[in-house]
Amino acid sequence: MPKQRVVVLSGAGISAESGLGTFRGPEGLWDTGEPNSHGDGGTRTVRVEDVATPSAWVADPAQVLRFYNERRAQVRTAQPNAAHRALATLEQGFEVDTITQNIDDLHERAGSSRVLHLHGEIMVARSTAHSEHLEPLGDQDIHLGDMCPQGSQLRPHVVWFGEDVPAMSVAAELVTQADILLCVGTSLQVYPAASLVFLAPDEVRRIVVDPNIPESITRTAFECLAKRATEGVPQIVHELLRDAGIESEENKS
Ligand code: APR
Repeated sequence: MPKQRVVVLSGAGISAESGLGTFRGPEGLWDTGEPNSHGDGGTRTVRVEDVATPSAWVADPAQVLRFYNERRAQVRTAQPNAAHRALATLEQGFEVDTITQNIDDLHERAGSSRVLHLHGEIMVARSTAHSEHLEPLGDQDIHLGDMCPQGSQLRPHVVWFGEDVPAMSVAAELVTQADILLCVGTSLQVYPAASLVFLAPDEVRRIVVDPNIPESITRTAFECLAKRATEGVPQIVHELLRDAGIESEENKS
């Protein structure tokens, strides 16, 4: 019997318990203009339009680079958590493709072998003029004046608001071929990524793990686990492997 195909759609929530913040909600990175939670009269300071848009890059590239350099430093120190690791073990019994909106590399470091980064990868630099030129950054940052071999400034290999999402067509194809769709830790508020859940054929089993089940999901036929990723994902992975008759290391415990 061919293995069933699981497509995972992950968002910032899966990396939250690795210490990487989410974007929306009370403590979210983009939740600005409001008084901060320290009660000191300050406000949250990161505005999408200052750091994650093409116009921000034109206006102040040094600020944009600094923002991503700081976030890259956080990613380097973060470790994959039990949810990332459980998804890697799912490959023992299923064909698994992970479509992630995350720019961190925690799925890969946990051992997932097929990861599609819809919004790019913070650990990779791209030439501003020659978009096919990519450079893994390793322990390097990007600074103004860092050039590709053809002499153009390097930028983070991430998708900014207002830019195309080149991986969308591959992602859409994966979702239409899925037997099981597993959404983890995404508010599904950002398009076109959010539209992927609506592309799954009717017969696809749909599961969501998120402590705050997104409204758009409740309007479709999802099995909802209102749990944190490190609790809900190992649980569902355990059940899927058990139902597939796989005696995984994880399932023996
Ligand atoms: N486990 C699982 N889910 C969690 C956890 C957790 N421990 N903590 C929070 N969440 C959920 C929240 O309930 C929310 O539904 O994670 C989701 C995070 O939503 P967003 O912050 O909107 O992140 P995401 O959906 O990934 O954002 C999409 O927006 O700014 C852009 O490019 C950025 O890729 C990002 C995109």
